[in-house]
Amino acid sequence: MTNISDNRLASLLQKQIEAAGGLPFVTFMEQCLYHPQYGYYMTNRQRIGKTGDFFTSSSVHALFGGLIARQLVQMDELLGEEAFQVVEQGAGEGHLALDILDALAASAPQLYQRLSYTLVERGPESRQRQAATLEKHAARVSWCDEQEWTLEQGCYLSNELVDAFPVHLLEKHDGQFQEVFVANQPDGSFTEELRDLSTPALTDYFEWLGTAPLEGNRAEANLIAPHWMRGVGERIQKGFALTIDYGYPSEELYAPYRRTGTLMCYHRHQADDNPYDKVGEKDLTAHVDFTALQKAGEEAGLKSLWFGEQYRFLMSLGFVEELMALEAKTSDEQEARALRLTLKNLIMPDAGMGEIFKVLVQGKNVGQPELLCARSLQDLPFPMGGM
Ligand SMILES: C[S@@+](CC[C@H](N)C(=O)[O-])C[C@H]1O[C@@H](n2cnc3c(N)ncnc32)[C@H](O)[C@@H]1O
Repeated sequence: MTNISDNRLASLLQKQIEAAGGLPFVTFMEQCLYHPQYGYYMTNRQRIGKTGDFFTSSSVHALFGGLIARQLVQMDELLGEEAFQVVEQGAGEGHLALDILDALAASAPQLYQRLSYTLVERGPESRQRQAATLEKHAARVSWCDEQEWTLEQGCYLSNELVDAFPVHLLEKHDGQFQEVFVANQPDGSFTEELRDLSTPALTDYFEWLGTAPLEGNRAEANLIAPHWMRGVGERIQKGFALTIDYGYPSEELYAPYRRTGTLMCYHRHQADDNPYDKVGEKDLTAHVDFTALQKAGEEAGLKSLWFGEQYRFLMSLGFVEELMALEAKTSDEQEARALRLTLKNLIMPDAGMGEIFKVLVQGKNVGQPELLCARSLQDLPFPMGGM
């Protein structure tokens, strides 16, 4: 339970709740993550990696970015090898940008010279961390705000951005949606109340989507995601959008068995489902609806080119041969084993990031190209004995 007197953000939220008579959960989550002074993503803390709160694929191993770089090289070929822009939104510590730029500098130096890499980041403190991480690529990188970027030709990408957008929480009872509001308790903690919807945009959203949470179930609605996806489509003139995140198509996200939704909190590698404790110190996140992204993208001229599990995406881009090449560089069996275990995490279907993480590739004004990441696994060599 949050002791309000010890937590500045919690006492600010308590005052806002008092003044407004309760806050929709989405507003509470927005403040927890992005309050300009105390929000989780706005303060100076280690969030990602071993000494942070959670791992992302890009923090697991440089191979993740190295394989994405291979896909970028093919996209550049498809676009005629002219000026090539990469725009990455929500880059966290900048690991993915670093690994992509390192890989391109080493294996596609001509593309590297023609490339501009723009980072779009909401947290001022994260921008500083990214700048430090990317110091050696300073000539290639720049930063801008979400409303500023445009992409004439190239690829827009994000890894675990959309799951960090604040969500509305809803429940359906007696055929009616109700929304979760956050209220104050006399003992200084927060509590939930089910109330009428804060906005008709929620019913409009489910009508638009064509799928909705079922009777008795709790679920999230990420209204920012389709809005963001349309914005991405409008900003791209010619090129690709690559979205990596954990989530499902709508039918699976709102399946009958998913009774309590997908909202999760992360603090020091412990996952829990209580967003009302340690506010501003935990990451709050919800799974992404990839059907909504595809539908919104189509409305803005983004054709879905490929959608699938992260393990398929990485395998098709040469995961196995890269793993073998890395292994061959070490003669120490313990080191090789540690490497295999680390990399296995990126593709493991159950406990790892392989299946729950999905990749969506969309294209605008690029036709229907055969992407490397779309290669069938049956066509790839599988020397998997040592894994
Ligand atoms: C989970 S982290 C992403 C991790 C990172 N991409 C990686 O691979 O390690 C989410 C990031 O998105 C940023 N973010 C959230 N909303 C954003 C927005 N609207 N525009 C730009 N960045 C945003 C957060 O500040 C944070 O850096």
